[in-house]
Order: sequence, then C-alpha cells, then structure tokens
Amino acid sequence: MSVPTGQASADPGELTWHAAWLPPEAFRALGSRDVLVHGGGPLVDTVLDEVTRACARYGGRVWHSPPWDVDADLVLASRDDGPVANAAAEAARLRATPAVDGVGNGSLGDEGFLLARVNGVTVVLADAPAGLLYGLFHVVRLGAAAFDDDRPARRHQPALARRMLDHWDNVAVHPVSGQIERGYAGGSIFWRDGAARRDPARLRDYGRLLAACGVNAISVNNVNVHDTEARLLTDRLDDVAEIADVLRPYGVRVHLAVTFAAPVVLGGLPTADPLDDRVRAWWVAATQRVYQRIPDFGGYLVKADSEGRPGPFTYGRDHAEGANLLADALAPHGGVVRWRAFVYNHHQDWRDRSTDRARAAHDHFTPLDGRFRDNVILQVKFGPVDFQVREPVSPVIAAMPATRVAVELQVTQEYTGQQRHVCHLGPWWAEVLRFPPWGEGGATVADVVAGDAGGGLVAVANVGDDPFWTGHPLAQANLYAFGRLAWDPRLDPGAILDEWIELTWLPTTTGDPELVRRTLHEIMDDSWRTYERYTAPLGVGFMVRPGHHYGPDVDGYEYTAWGTYHFADRDGVGVDRTRATGTGFTGQYPKPWSDVYESLERCPDELLLFFHHVPYRHVLHSGRTVIQHIYDTHFAGVEEVAAMRRRWQALAGAVAPAAYERVAERLDEQFRSAVEWRDQVNTYFFRKSGVPDAHGRRIH
Ligand code: GCU
Repeated sequence: MSVPTGQASADPGELTWHAAWLPPEAFRALGSRDVLVHGGGPLVDTVLDEVTRACARYGGRVWHSPPWDVDADLVLASRDDGPVANAAAEAARLRATPAVDGVGNGSLGDEGFLLARVNGVTVVLADAPAGLLYGLFHVVRLGAAAFDDDRPARRHQPALARRMLDHWDNVAVHPVSGQIERGYAGGSIFWRDGAARRDPARLRDYGRLLAACGVNAISVNNVNVHDTEARLLTDRLDDVAEIADVLRPYGVRVHLAVTFAAPVVLGGLPTADPLDDRVRAWWVAATQRVYQRIPDFGGYLVKADSEGRPGPFTYGRDHAEGANLLADALAPHGGVVRWRAFVYNHHQDWRDRSTDRARAAHDHFTPLDGRFRDNVILQVKFGPVDFQVREPVSPVIAAMPATRVAVELQVTQEYTGQQRHVCHLGPWWAEVLRFPPWGEGGATVADVVAGDAGGGLVAVANVGDDPFWTGHPLAQANLYAFGRLAWDPRLDPGAILDEWIELTWLPTTTGDPELVRRTLHEIMDDSWRTYERYTAPLGVGFMVRPGHHYGPDVDGYEYTAWGTYHFADRDGVGVDRTRATGTGFTGQYPKPWSDVYESLERCPDELLLFFHHVPYRHVLHSGRTVIQHIYDTHFAGVEEVAAMRRRWQALAGAVAPAAYERVAERLDEQFRSAVEWRDQVNTYFFRKSGVPDAHGRRIH
C-alpha cells in the first residue's frame, strides 16, 4: 500500500479516506526513539499527542516535562518554560553550546523554531507553542536524517506570517455551483446539504495536514455568500465555532466570508451604507458576538461589487469606506478584513475595445492606497485576469505601498484541468513569488507580502470529502506545495515535490520506491508547462468552455460580457494592451516591465498574446512563427500526456491499487481532453489563418 488508509469516517458505511502526506509510517523515525516534550498549553498537547501515538506504534518512549534528567534522542522544548531535564537540550536552551550559538540568539517569533544536533541529541527549541508544532513536523519531514550527527544547527521561521486557504464551500448546495464552487474533490468536509457535517475526525486530520505544510488560516465558506452562508455570522455561529475548536490545536485560525449586505439581510436594516451609524453599530455588535464565541477568530473575507455581489458602490461609497467599516469592528479584537481586489465590469460590451478587464483592479484600487486601515488586507489575484495557466503578475501588487497586500492563488484547478489533469503548480507559483516587480535584483512579489507588514499568501483550496482528499491523488502535491512556498518562497519546487513524495509514497509501503519517486517526478515536474502547451497559447488565456470552464471552446467567451477575449481574425491574434495603440494596461507596471511589455521585441514569448495583437507569421524569440508555435506546442503537449500515461502504467503493482486506478483513470481522461484541446485549437487557427503546419501533421 502506498497511500495507507486513514481513520474511518464518523459516518458509518461511508468511504474511509487516505492519509495524504502524513500516514503513520511518516512518523517511524521519530516514533522509534526516546522523545522529551517540554512545555504547556494546547498546541504543546498536540505535539505530545502526535509523539505519543508515534511512539506507541513504533516502540519509542515519551516524557512530558519530567522533573528528573532523562536521556532522550529528541527534545522538543519551549524555551520559556524553564529548565529542560536533558543536559544537551538544557545547554541548547541556554544558548551555551557552540552548535546553536549564532543561530539561537534573538526571538524565534510566534511560529519559528531552532533545530540543532547537540551531543547526540536532536533538539527543537521554540519560543511559542506553534513553533514547537512546526518543529515537530519538520522532524517528521526529515525522517531519519533528523538524527544525523553532522546536521548543522538552523533557525527556521516562516517568511510569510499569513498563510491561508479559502474554501469556496457552500453550506447549502447551490443550484449552479454545487456544494463547493469550483470544487473537484467531492463534497465539502465542513458542510452538507445546508447543515454542518460534524466530522471532527476528518477535520482534525485536515488540521494536521495543514500544520504539516505550514498553513495557519482558513476561511470556511464561499466568497459568494448566499442566504444560508450569510447566517454563519449570526445564528449559525456555533457551526463555525465547532470547526475552530477542532482546528485550533493545529494552529489554524478560522475566518468567515461575509456578505457586505449583512446588515440588511441579517439585521433587517434598510441599508448597508458604510457611513450609516446604524450599519456601523450592527457590525460592531455582530463582531463582538463572534469574538465572544470564538476568541481567536481570524476575521472577515469580502467579495464586494464583484460578479453581482453587494458592495459599497450601491451607496455611492468607495472600497476604502467599505473595508474600513468592517476593519473598525474587527480592530478591538485583533481581527483583519481581507478585501478582495477582484472587481471588474462583468457586463462588458465585447464591441467596446477600450474597456480592458485586466486594468480593472489597478484602476479601482490604486487611488485608494493609504486610505485603508492597518487591519485591512487587500487580497489580489496573482494575475490581472483570473487564475489562468499563464498571466503576467498583477500590477496591483507593486502599486499599493501604503496598503497591506496579499496575493491569491488557486490551488483548486478551475482553469488548470480541474483535478482530472495532472498539473503540478509549484513551479508556476515559485515563478510568481520570485518575480521582481521593479526589475531584476529588486524586491520580489514574496517580499511585498512577507512578514507582519505583508498580507501573505492565500489560495483557493482543493480538498473535499473525496477519499484522496483532492480527487486526483497527485493534486495533493499542489496543496502541499502551496503551504511550503508560503512558509518559504525560496524553496525549490522540485525539492518540495520530493518532500511530498517521501512523506506520502513511503519506501516501506511502495514496491519500488526509487521507481515510484522517479516516475512521479517525470510525470509531475513539467506538467504545468505541458498543460500550458495543449491549452490556450502564449498567455492569451481563457478559450475554456463557458460556465464550468473545462475543456476547449476557443470562441466560448469571445462575444460575451466577461471581458476575456483573444481577438483572433484571419490575420492574427492577441490583445493589444500597449499604451501606443491598445488599452494602455502596460502603463500600470513600473519600469522596467512597463517598457518590456510595451515592446513587441522585448515582451517574453510566453506572454506575447496577453500584451500584443500580432500576425500569425510574427517570429518569436524562439525563432518560430506564432502559428507554428501553436501547432508545435499542441502536438508536443499531447505527446507529453501520452508519455505520462505510459510512465504511470509502469507503476502497476508498485503502488496501492486504489491510488493506481484513480490516477490511471484520470490520465486517460487527460489524454482524451488534451487531444480535444489540440485538435480544436489547431483546427481553429488553421481555418482562421490558412497557414499549413510546416511539418504536414494532421489538422482537421
Ligand atoms: C472566477 C470563478 C468564480 C469565482 C470568482 C472569484 O471567476 O470562475 O467561480 O467566484 O473567480 O474569484 O470570486
């Protein structure tokens, strides 16, 4: 068995779920040793509980703050909780050993830890309980290597203070978007048919998975807040509190998506005008009740004036006035309001070439810079449009120096194969996080969102009640990679994938561990680029089926009100977003990018059609014409999927049958879908352009 089965569900007769990246086996190295845990409080209890279960299974011993000196192989200690009953650990605690000198000085913060090997003992020290929890999971990640004598002392602290997942889970099943909007892994783990699921065992497992990859916050309902979900804020608050109670021991703070119209729909007021005193009083009282029930509640998430959601525009107010209303109610309790920048006109006239959806967030929000309260986080999608497989980084990220900005990614694969396709997104996110908005050598996107001053990283979650959590078993790696990159954006995505493989497809439970690891890398490492090759070309985006967004439909959005066009005609394709002749979007970037993107010569190939409308015979930096690039990449993408499928077949018998079958069945669908993409896109452009494929391959 490569993916061991987790605990049985609380619901009798229901499927069990698989343990994702923390099967009991992952704890073998730790559980077979003698472990001392030192400190107190609920999160230290979690550490103790994890260690106790591992040691019971693998024969190790556990002590909790013993008053006598013990010989331990591993010490997990809170530095502030007095002397540790282990000589090496105590020496480390007092920072007296050379091994930790230099890295142990100064505070480790709320979540940091120090890992050192001192006189044959592995020592994890933290200043706060969450640090100890993250230290524990780091030891699990290292496995036997955590006990190597030559392990250098190292201080670990998250680069980003806020590492959050947004669940687009509906409480009541929505007639169009279902139980989870853009969910591809079954039902919600929180809600079912309008009620709370009350499945604490599964929620606890989820909390462990999150803590083990570094996520420390979630929102439990969809940003599109419908009638039932709205009530989570008031008479359904107990349901939210129950979730918070289960996740708290794993250091995960719960947030709620709320409707801006709450004072009207829940409070019976005639208005939700942010400057109305009754409205202010309503939010203050509602928020007080939330904190009485959930003292460590994280805050509110708001989608306002976006895709039909209510917002301050209704009352002639701007988004700073709207966000500050909620921020003022939350501030006394230490909460934040996460205000989404995804605001654009979704009733656009396709005939109007001057309106550009890509411009919208920058146009709306940059004039408001400096007007948001300190506890407002402006949550900006990583690209200017909508989680496409390739977009430039949003110019808003670089344009709000006086605002706390968070970057939003989409772990759920709405536009990247909907968890039927393998599309490993770690490399793409790493590229986004390392992008230097002010030019090479300058600050990066990760720097903008880092630390307490930054809003951190957020992603739309991809789990559901599916036995593999994420529908496609390999899509788990995206969730894991998100957490790890939010902890440390400089991590190498290949190394992160390796961690996930080692934690999930354990050598003791797979037939041929080296083959499994190699094959997973071969299938996954470049799968994001493979997906890009057989779908929309050169950054032009969309071309998906309207509504559900799965599969190709080149003109699906071309004459709609959504503002996502490619403008293909017989001569060329792409969106002219230049200042010289187009929508002027390039001007929203600082230098050098405003010039790089403006210039046909300097614009990177992969973003060419996002910024320029070019003839089909335009020659790319690669030396190929645009039309030949389209043909070549679409043929190549399908070949690569065929190779993925062959590689996976070599694992038959080497991995658990259930996981094998699930992946095999999804790869069949990926191949079918990739062929469809190839044939529709190639045929479309052949018919438009009349230019034949230079290699004479079959185009329909
Ligand atoms: C996309 C997605 C919607 C979602 C929206 C958002 O448009 O298709 O389902 O509601 O993004 O981010 O709010």
